Amino acid sequence: MTLKNKTVIIGVTGGIAAYKSADLVSKLVQLGADVWVVETKEAAKLVTPLTFRTLSGNPVITDLFSEELSDIPVPHISITEKADLMIIAPATANIIGKVAQGIADDPLSTMMISSKSPKLIAPAMNNNMWENPVLQENISKLRALGHKIIGPEVGWLACGSTGSGRMVEVADIISKAVEILEASKDLVGVRILVTAGGTKEAIDPVRFIGNRSSGKMGYAVARAAADRGAQVTLITTPTQLDKPSGCKMIVVETAAQMKQAVMIEAKRSDAIIMAAAVADYTPLKSQGSKIKKKDRGLKLKIELKRTDDILNELGKKKGNKILIGFSLETDDLVDNAKKKLKDKNLDLIIANGIEAFDGDDSKAVLIYIDGKTEKTGPMSKNGIAVRIMDFISTKAKPRKKENLPVLLNMASKVSC
Ligand code: CTP
Repeated sequence: MTLKNKTVIIGVTGGIAAYKSADLVSKLVQLGADVWVVETKEAAKLVTPLTFRTLSGNPVITDLFSEELSDIPVPHISITEKADLMIIAPATANIIGKVAQGIADDPLSTMMISSKSPKLIAPAMNNNMWENPVLQENISKLRALGHKIIGPEVGWLACGSTGSGRMVEVADIISKAVEILEASKDLVGVRILVTAGGTKEAIDPVRFIGNRSSGKMGYAVARAAADRGAQVTLITTPTQLDKPSGCKMIVVETAAQMKQAVMIEAKRSDAIIMAAAVADYTPLKSQGSKIKKKDRGLKLKIELKRTDDILNELGKKKGNKILIGFSLETDDLVDNAKKKLKDKNLDLIIANGIEAFDGDDSKAVLIYIDGKTEKTGPMSKNGIAVRIMDFISTKAKPRKKENLPVLLNMASKVSC
């Protein structure tokens, strides 16, 4: 096992388990990782920055404006940008609360909010603090955002009692860290096609029939796939969103153009995720000139014809492809989505209501081909995209999982 070329940031906060973090840093360095330690003021009283600097070989961050970091431009951005993983061990109730609420008032919380890398949090605290409902709410929120939480364990606590709150062992943190780092590129070699946005059907040169899709879900899916090493093609209608890096983009406007592009790209795809809101009807005839009201009187009839159902057609010649659709419903959410899953020959369908439009979060029900359903509760679209990639990973790369070394056995005993 090697972590060569991996950069890991370790946040150490003021719990007595901070002494174990020295061992964590040392072991990760021995595995080849480039380790950067960020200590809170309280942690620095328990284990000195000198200890971590000696073990990691890098300056320890306790103050973003310190002389020691003067050679590093904007350290909270430049160091977090190159990180493959951020770990907080031990994580106190305070840092958990700050991260869950987006507070950035010290180097560690600032780096957590500016980092896009996966995050692993190992809580350690008194059992009453751990059981506190506010703390538990924060933990649920972090889980929903995709942060991995490891432990705590039940055992002897520094305050003299026995209960749940003890930081997990360093070996468990390392197993989980390696699993996350491995998983983060588990879609290398998988070709994924994603559609996004809402199509527009021209009535005349200035008017169209459209829908309220923002494209956020499809872009989140494309980003999650690219982050995990997949080769991604994103077919999208024009949006204001940032282009997901590492994706091939094809911009289309109408349902017919989307169908044409999808059918070409589908041939070289292993998985297709239709997140676009494709118009079901288009004007029978688009007028060449602007419709003038003086010519049409008080009522205007526009005759519409059905568009082709792209996903339905893909389902008819599915082969080994993984097909994933979305289902937007105002009524009978799950029943309607289940019907679409079957009719369109899909592997997974994500059902959501109209509140999913435009926001960054959604409340979805994931319905799998094997009958399993999973309600997400309010979750970020990025979090839903990660769930979709987890599913593709199990289907598209079964051999890869079998080949994973002893490591996974070690990790399987870790709850997360
Ligand atoms: N879809 C498609 N082509 C269409 C319409 C929909 O590929 N012409 C895809 C969507 O991208 C989505 C899934 O089919 O992944 C379900 O779309 P949805 O609009 O929820 O349902 P429809 O099948 O269009 O049925 P209805 O509008 O009657 O609910």
